[in-house]
Amino acid sequence: MRRTVSAALDEAAADIGRVDARVLACHLLGVGRAWLAANPMHVLTESQDAQFDSLVSRRAMGYPVAYLVGTREFYGRDFAVGPAVLIPRPETETLVEAALGRLPPGGSVLDLGTGSGAVAVTLACERPEATVHAVDSSADALAVARANAARHGAKVEFARGSWYSPVAGQRFDLVVANPPYVAAGDHHLVEGDLRFEPGAALTDGSVDGLDSVRAIVSGAPAHLKPGGWLLVEHGYDQAAVCEALFAAAGFTDLVTIADLAGIPRVAGGRQKPPG
Ligand SMILES: C[S@@+](CC[C@H](N)C(=O)[O-])C[C@H]1O[C@@H](n2cnc3c(N)ncnc32)[C@H](O)[C@@H]1O
Repeated sequence: MRRTVSAALDEAAADIGRVDARVLACHLLGVGRAWLAANPMHVLTESQDAQFDSLVSRRAMGYPVAYLVGTREFYGRDFAVGPAVLIPRPETETLVEAALGRLPPGGSVLDLGTGSGAVAVTLACERPEATVHAVDSSADALAVARANAARHGAKVEFARGSWYSPVAGQRFDLVVANPPYVAAGDHHLVEGDLRFEPGAALTDGSVDGLDSVRAIVSGAPAHLKPGGWLLVEHGYDQAAVCEALFAAAGFTDLVTIADLAGIPRVAGGRQKPPG
């Protein structure tokens, strides 16, 4: 017997919780939460019933909701996501806020390790007059990022390569990065959504997780205009090490910015202005 929406949700909620069950049902039926609440006796087609079970069982095995529905909201916009890219995190909005506050009018910005393009596309949408470049070493990630730029009508110059290599000889007003920063062997890598996200987006394999940050900080002086800012997202316990790296590379005006949970999340510094 075919199930009603209400019965399917009740069964799914026992396995994956009511919130995820509702999200998956909305995605499958192409409706909003209000419709779901108003139509509990709607009867699923045979195909919808089977597809819902399949979504629920993949979620029950831990597969991320964002990959199942194919999108994740970031800074008020929906971004396409899939297993080739990190699922954009709310804490990365702290990086975006810090960048928006430091990008001069009509300035240029480079996003290193762009993944889904969440940061670069958001900056291009929020500052349409800015010149936005974005780099990633993964061709599959760049395909997702390009699709997201098209989806939001954002003008972003994408390039594939390792960190600054695709922008050799170029300087920017601002460089931003949310690089892989999880230490090799960190137990989080084998828990939750992280198990299904691309390994190269999470960790560079270094013992302290900071080899990518070191490469980005040490390469920044050759790619920033005088007075330009470097902003790098880092782990909850990496603020002091990151600040020391920025200081050792000669950056001034060092800042550590906390995310909405009050956790130090973004390290920033300025290339010495002229004079
Ligand atoms: C933590 S994810 C960040 C994705 C996106 N910027 C975000 O905030 O949601 C890090 C990204 O860095 C990329 N990456 C890793 N090593 C890289 C390298 N050597 N050069 C360029 N990109 C790299 C990964 O492919 C991944 O997309």
